[in-house]
Amino acid sequence: MSMIYSRIVGTGSYLPEKALTNDDLSRMVETSDEWIQSRTGIRKRYIAAADQNTSDLALIAAQRALESAQLQVDTIDLIVLATTTPEMIFPSTATIVQEKLGMTNGAAAFDVQAVCSGFLYALATADSMIRNGMAKRALVIGAELMSRILNWEDRKTCVLFGDGAGALILEASETPGILSSHLHADGRYRDILQANGRIQNGTIHGTPYIEMEGSQVFRFAVRVLAEAVQEALDNNGLKVSDIDWLVPHQANLRIMDATARKLQMPSQKMINMVGDQANTSAASIPLAIDAGARNHSFKANQLLALAAVGGGFTWGATLLRW
Ligand code: ACO
Repeated sequence: MSMIYSRIVGTGSYLPEKALTNDDLSRMVETSDEWIQSRTGIRKRYIAAADQNTSDLALIAAQRALESAQLQVDTIDLIVLATTTPEMIFPSTATIVQEKLGMTNGAAAFDVQAVCSGFLYALATADSMIRNGMAKRALVIGAELMSRILNWEDRKTCVLFGDGAGALILEASETPGILSSHLHADGRYRDILQANGRIQNGTIHGTPYIEMEGSQVFRFAVRVLAEAVQEALDNNGLKVSDIDWLVPHQANLRIMDATARKLQMPSQKMINMVGDQANTSAASIPLAIDAGARNHSFKANQLLALAAVGGGFTWGATLLRW
């Protein structure tokens, strides 16, 4: 009996129209283009319009992924959507996207929350469900409206994040595709990056805004990103030199560069979108994959290493053949 794998057959992404530059930010908080660029590599970020919601960003990314795969929506039997900024308390943003796509075939749909690692958690979930026969074709989305949970008076956090969405179509296949995923979490570190607000009988307790211990997050991220990629390589009997493209979560350029250095990978092999998009949390990896696909960086059978880290703390890596 032949093994079933999943492989990517379509990609799409969406960024809101409005770009907010570092100079724009320097008129809102005490900061400068020089400070932000030298610490993070970020030049600008996109901010959604007031009437755009998480599902609106996700919808356009999903439609573009379906178009690139030349598939009709009713051939999808699973939607997994990763987000830190769901549209509402419930139902899931995945079901809102399902309705907006006009899907009526009863496909399973749910959200995954693992903050900036969310897309890798969603991808691993969809891949597992395809490999064990529960689904044949999955729409995997990462969509974020980080601008809605930023304190625009806190220069330590508001300069780092942006809005956006990315989507992939995964399909059952006899050839890989995804080789393996390695997911981790350690809740002891949950308070170094959090938005701990809780809704209780109509009132928010705690804060609905992101709070972060920047230097602790930095150290944690660099350590676990490189470890996770190495774990994925070891699991598949592969070496760092076998990787054609490193697609890290686009948190900030210093974290990404430090990870590539730790792995002894040349920076030309790393997809870098953070300068123009900032940190879009669970959307950053599918946005980066869509960019690599559309500018033809990725060639058939090349090895991609995806790596992410985020609040929780959560982290992980996925290896796949393009
Ligand atoms: N503009 C100007 N000055 C600033 C800004 C800003 N936007 N933000 C902080 N500063 C100031 C601080 O107030 C501090 O001033 P002080 O010494 O007078 O108090 C000074 O700069 C140094 O602050 P540090 O926090 O020590 O600066 P650091 O060099 O560590 O850089 C940064 C901060 C860029 C946030 C860094 O810690 C970092 O990259 N951390 C990782 C955070 C990250 O990427 N998070 C993304 C989410 S996590 C994820 O996706 C996994």
